[in-house]
Amino acid sequence: MASIEWRPEFATGIQDVDHEHRELIGWINQTLAASSQPATPPGQIGDLLGEIFARISAHFALEEHVMSSRRYDQYAEHKRDHEGLLDDIRDIMDDLEAAGRVEERFSTRLTEWFGVHFRTHDARFHHQMPRP
Ligand SMILES: [Fe+2]
Ligand SMILES: [Fe+2]
Repeated sequence: MASIEWRPEFATGIQDVDHEHRELIGWINQTLAASSQPATPPGQIGDLLGEIFARISAHFALEEHVMSSRRYDQYAEHKRDHEGLLDDIRDIMDDLEAAGRVEERFSTRLTEWFGVHFRTHDARFHHQMPRP
């Protein structure tokens, strides 16, 4: 299955943030690679997806905490976009449970999401509210 390649346009220009985003993509790629191996048991892919879900949720929760405590003007829109990705990951998990595999369309969907979210929502937010 096609992995998600880091592209220059994903970068927010803030080193710590870009590092975390690269790590998230790395985890997703590990899962896509595992799921494209027919010998990988579905339980192992499920565990990886669970790990990804937890890590991405933690990353989002941190951003949302900063946005709400500092009254960021686009908090609602940004949070809504986060929830869209978490819904997609839940769909992938349901799919895995039903079909025993992860479908190709999800790597396309996730690539699109990361490409847009990092360079729009995250770039705007992190530039307006730099980390201390
Ligand atoms: Fe982010
Ligand atoms: Fe974000």
